[in-house]
Amino acid sequence: MQTVPFSPDQASSFAGEVDALYGFLWALTIVIGGVISLLILYFAVKYRRRNEDEIPRPVRASHRLEAVWVGVPFVVAMGIFVWSAGIYYRMYRPPEEAIDVYVVAKQWMWKFQHLDGHREINELHVPVGRKVKLTMTTEDVIHSFFVPAFRVKMDVVPGKYCTIWFEPTKAGRYHLFCAEYCGTSHSGMIGWVDVMEAPEYQAWLSGGAAGGSLAATGEKLFQQLACRTCHKSDGTGRGPMLEGVFGKTVQLANGQKVTADEAYVRESITNPKAKVVAGYDAIMPTFQGQVSEEQLLQLIAYIRSLAGVQGPAPQGGASPGGQQARPAPAPAQMKQSQQ
Ligand code: CUA
Repeated sequence: MQTVPFSPDQASSFAGEVDALYGFLWALTIVIGGVISLLILYFAVKYRRRNEDEIPRPVRASHRLEAVWVGVPFVVAMGIFVWSAGIYYRMYRPPEEAIDVYVVAKQWMWKFQHLDGHREINELHVPVGRKVKLTMTTEDVIHSFFVPAFRVKMDVVPGKYCTIWFEPTKAGRYHLFCAEYCGTSHSGMIGWVDVMEAPEYQAWLSGGAAGGSLAATGEKLFQQLACRTCHKSDGTGRGPMLEGVFGKTVQLANGQKVTADEAYVRESITNPKAKVVAGYDAIMPTFQGQVSEEQLLQLIAYIRSLAGVQGPAPQGGASPGGQQARPAPAPAQMKQSQQ
């Protein structure tokens, strides 16, 4: 069902808002452009030169008229600014209760990792009517995540996490594009977002993810890289204890404070000397180049799980392969996700 001609489906909670703003800008452009064009034609005829030596009467300035043509566009422009800033503000501030999906872009594909361990390429499964937050990065150049039907687009920049969120309102399959020229096969860097009804989504989730949850994969990696040697769980190690850290404020050696979010954990792994925790020496070696972007996200998911931050139910959904008891969702949350 196309609600606006020449535009994609309206399939997210933002779609209506963005279309309304866009429609208003169109209408305003047509009205102002039309009125000015017609006036030019009308005045050109009305005030045309009627004989060779005609001299026009002098024009006197009108302050009132000037005030109107300055005042009205000012109010209209500020109105557009406030309106669009409101939409922008909501779009780029993901809600707490959103389902987390981690995204790694590379030439030329989209890789998705769900908290329960499901991994997908160029295909993203999400439930209808739930908020979904994407934490995205790229292995190589700048890409841009664009789902026209959701009216969301976000550049994905190397070396940092970019987030975007959406709430699909209609089940279906929607095109996903890369909207930033990124090399030879840029035009082939496309995929689909599958928006599923709750029961189908549950069925898809219960299909099981090989290798357990994302946090469990991260834990294995944590062991392999021998992170435990220093980051002991009782706090006696040479590095800070990581239990309960995620999402909290961390006191740094230089006196500053930071929130332990995805970006901070990522930086602490790739560039450990950038933000050293107060009371510890800058002795950790960098893991830049040793862990891929996807593995970084797995480690983050693990550190996140150590703080009991699990994300909402559907992603922590029953994953029979998950050998870690930690991310198991509470029964109440499971019910909620089936509504
Ligand atoms: Cu990736 Cu264009």
